[in-house]
Amino acid sequence: MAACSAPGKIILFGEHAVVFGKPALALAIDLRVRASLSVSDQYAVNGHPMRPKLHSYISAALDETWNGPPVRISTWSSIPSGSGLGSSAAVTVSSVGAMLTEKGECDVATLAKKAFEVEFRVQKRASPTDTSTSAHGKGVLVSPEQGDGFLWRISKGQQVWNVHHCEVPDLKFVVGYTGVRAATGPLVDSVRVLLDADKDRREDLDRIGDIVLQGVDAVRRADKPALGRLMLENHGLLNNLGVGHPMLDKLVAACEESAYGAKLTGAGGGGSMIALTDDPERTSAAIRRAGGKAIVVSVGCEGARLES
Ligand code: PMV
Repeated sequence: MAACSAPGKIILFGEHAVVFGKPALALAIDLRVRASLSVSDQYAVNGHPMRPKLHSYISAALDETWNGPPVRISTWSSIPSGSGLGSSAAVTVSSVGAMLTEKGECDVATLAKKAFEVEFRVQKRASPTDTSTSAHGKGVLVSPEQGDGFLWRISKGQQVWNVHHCEVPDLKFVVGYTGVRAATGPLVDSVRVLLDADKDRREDLDRIGDIVLQGVDAVRRADKPALGRLMLENHGLLNNLGVGHPMLDKLVAACEESAYGAKLTGAGGGGSMIALTDDPERTSAAIRRAGGKAIVVSVGCEGARLES
C-alpha cells in the first residue's frame, strides 16, 4: 500500500489573472487530503466501484499516471469541497503521489506536472497554481518569467508558467466560507468571455499582475498593512471581472474593523474569502455574524508528503 497527503491552499493574490498569463501568489494551508492506494481486483474509490463522472479527478489521475493492475483508492479530507481552498488539487496531488510512490517514481516536480495535467483534463482550463502549491507547500509564486527560487516550469499551448518557492512569514488568516458552492471551470470561462467582449478589462488584469509583484515584496517584508491594502484592491478588481458574489462582499466588509484587509480567494462566485488579521477570534466572530463559516488557517505548511 502507498499513501500520500497534500495540503489545500489560499490564493493571496492573482487568481483568474494567472490563467491569462499574469503572476499569482498562493500559500499552502494546514488543511489536508490523504489518499491511500492498494492493488485490488477492481477499481474502487472509498469502498465503491469507481465511476469516472463521480470520481473525475481520481479517474483522470489513473489515466495520467497508472498502467498497473486495478487499484482501490481511499481518500480522507479536512478541506471543505467547493470552498475555493484547493480541495480538488489536494485530492489530485495526494492521489497522483500515492500512484507514483507505488510505482517507485515520486519526485515532487513530476508530481506537480502530472497533477496539473489531471486538473486541466477535468476542468478544461486551469493554471498550475493550485496543484503546484499543493505539491510544494509553503508559498508559491507562479509567473511568466523565471526568477529567484525557481522550482519548475509547466506549459500548456502558448502559456508558460514558472513556479517559484516563496518564503512565508508568520501571518494569520481567517477563511470565511460563504456556503455557496461554485465550480471553477465556468467561472474561468466567464472571465475569458468578458475579456474578449470588453478590452478595458485587460487593464484590470494588468493591475492584478502588478499587485501580485508588490504583494510578493510585502510578504517578504511581512508588511501587513501593505498586504491588507493590496488584498482589498485585488478584491475590487476581481469584482470588475465578474467573479464576485454579494455574500463575499458582505464577509469582506465585516472584517474591516478587525483585519488588515480581506478578499475573495480562489475562483469566486461564492466559495471563500480570506482576511489577514492579528486577532483571528475577533475576525472569526465578525465573519460568523455576517453569515459565513469561519476557519482559522496557518499558512506556509508542508507540501505533499508520504504517509505510512
Ligand atoms: O477555487 P479554486 O481552488 O479552484 O482556484 C481557482 C484559481 C483560478 O485562478 C480561478 C483558476 C486557476 O486554475 O488558476
